[in-house]
Amino acid sequence: MTVPQHVAIIMDGNGRWAQKNGKPRLWGHARGADTVREITTLSRKLGIKALTLYAFSTKNWDRPEEEVSGLMGLLKEYIRKERSTLLDNDIRFRTIGNISKLPEDLITSINELKDASSHCKSMDFCIALNYGARDEIVRAVKKVTSDILDGKITHETIDEKLFDSYLDTACLPPVDLIIRTSGEFRLSDFLLWQGAYSEFYFTETLWPDFREEEFRKALASYSQRERRFGKTSDQIRK
Ligand code: IPE
Ligand code: IPE
Ligand code: MG
Repeated sequence: MTVPQHVAIIMDGNGRWAQKNGKPRLWGHARGADTVREITTLSRKLGIKALTLYAFSTKNWDRPEEEVSGLMGLLKEYIRKERSTLLDNDIRFRTIGNISKLPEDLITSINELKDASSHCKSMDFCIALNYGARDEIVRAVKKVTSDILDGKITHETIDEKLFDSYLDTACLPPVDLIIRTSGEFRLSDFLLWQGAYSEFYFTETLWPDFREEEFRKALASYSQRERRFGKTSDQIRK
């Protein structure tokens, strides 16, 4: 079986899962965090090199204040609780997105875990926080422009590879597989540049129910795809 190097997941459906179970939305997010645990350790076991999870988008600030602060609290708790699992499994913690807009105490915990895990090499575990792909691209354009003005690069040197290195994902391998749960067929501003040649997997399963068996199904589907990158099937099989 071909295992993808980098899997990215749009973890959707926590709210509907809670509603289905007659609980408040935050309860669904808490159960979603349990799924994150399971999928992370399983990914490491299966030899996946990078796992990126969409946890909070630039648009999610528009949710009710109570839900936003609840999510921030859960993230902080998650970082505290998962520290030893990540370190014991040689997993490096990273983020993409503009984290400077997050609550101060959360930024501190994030940076602390990033530092503590910076030597870990077996897998990158990356959470997309205050992430939006358009925002990421605009921030990258600003950095490129400022490097041109500072004389560090010239505009002639800009190509796809250079631009890629200005994105938040610069340290991560190409995204092979993007999964979205909960039966929605959209990207919601996730990895627009990086997903140019990714494979997609959509499932009706709500994120809190997306456990080992479901993840294995997604990986099995991926391993049957023929990635042609513009070439013909004959060229690929040679
Ligand atoms: C995904 O679940 C988690 C976040 C966006 C933080 P949702 O909260 O979007 O769940 P639904 O889509 O309302 O069911
Ligand atoms: C996308 O889910 C963002 C995350 C999973 C964090 P949403 O539930 O916010 O997406 P839309 O708004 O339904 O497209
Ligand atoms: Mg949703």
